[in-house]
Amino acid sequence: MKILVTGGLGFIGSHTVVELQNEGFEVVVIDNLSNSSIDVLDGIQKITGKKPFFENLDLKNKVSVQDFFDKHTDVTHVIHFAASKAVGESVGNPLLYYENNINTLVYLLQELEKKTEANFIFSSSCTVYGQADDMPITEKASVKPAFSPYGNTKQIGEEIVWDVSAVSGINAVLLRYFNPIGAHPSAEIGELPLGVPQNLVPFITQTAIGLRQELSVFGDDYPTPDGTAVRDYIHVVDLAKAHVLALKRLIEKKNKDKVEVFNIGTGKGSSVLEVIKAFEKVSEQKLAYKIVGRRDGDVTEVYANTDKANQVLGWKAQLTLEDALGSAWKWEKKIRNNI
Ligand code: UD1
Repeated sequence: MKILVTGGLGFIGSHTVVELQNEGFEVVVIDNLSNSSIDVLDGIQKITGKKPFFENLDLKNKVSVQDFFDKHTDVTHVIHFAASKAVGESVGNPLLYYENNINTLVYLLQELEKKTEANFIFSSSCTVYGQADDMPITEKASVKPAFSPYGNTKQIGEEIVWDVSAVSGINAVLLRYFNPIGAHPSAEIGELPLGVPQNLVPFITQTAIGLRQELSVFGDDYPTPDGTAVRDYIHVVDLAKAHVLALKRLIEKKNKDKVEVFNIGTGKGSSVLEVIKAFEKVSEQKLAYKIVGRRDGDVTEVYANTDKANQVLGWKAQLTLEDALGSAWKWEKKIRNNI
């Protein structure tokens, strides 16, 4: 069975391609290499023994999207990762985000709505909840006004999927990721941030390897046990597996509604200082860090209630924070040729 994975050479996309191929699915990857490398195909091949079919295609080009579907008439299952994800960049360049994340979604769905039946998995984010009133966050928590154009594209993206699904043969799953981190345990694929990392874990590993002088911890005056902000860090391999289960649910027509929403996290919150301590333990070295002021737009505490994914999808995070940090560290050492 053929599965289209857009953004399949990116961080979460590549790990999902691996899990799909391990389960025997035939994968077609579309990626425009704007935030990924063609070498990721080799990493996928090393892990799974198979290179997915690859098309270097920009989903912002509507005609290219049409041509792709004209050529691959049998593609009706799509996992859509291709999108931009840097919160700060989206504030400075909102139209880039609306074009990259919304236009592309519209063009893809325009092709899928021509099919009698199609299955669509959308990469959403816990950012849609903002600072939720109650922890842990269930899927019933309200969607709060977005803090950034990036967050807004995830909210609008969800709404687009709801609206289109209601009037077409498209069944969909919206996966709301918490904070994806880590790398494949083989260290053949992992995260490849462009420039200075904005996210915590790549900044930690780059500091530990000597690329950055020290980590800035953004704020220690939050109302949390140690004063630093709390997130739900989910291993990318566990996250990738959730996509395979969601896809199977749609293919086997087990879904109860045309659009279903699942939180994908561990259910456990960790503070920035806890992440640093866990990293120091797995890497057996001290990390240079200093406490600075809060970062604009950051919320205090976000962690998932994952009961719905556990009970309905049959999915549960298996790997620990230490597993994730250990794999991220192994990957950092590998890409800096420092093993
Ligand atoms: C953000 C987005 C999320 C998006 C993710 C990936 C929001 C609310 N969240 O998550 O939707 O999917 O990025 O791009 O928009 N930190 C430091 N020092 C650093 C970096 C981070 O202390 O150098 C802290 C942050 O203040 C935060 C935690 O580490 O408390 C995690 O930050 P980060 O990895 O950037 O993820 P989020 O902001 O939670």
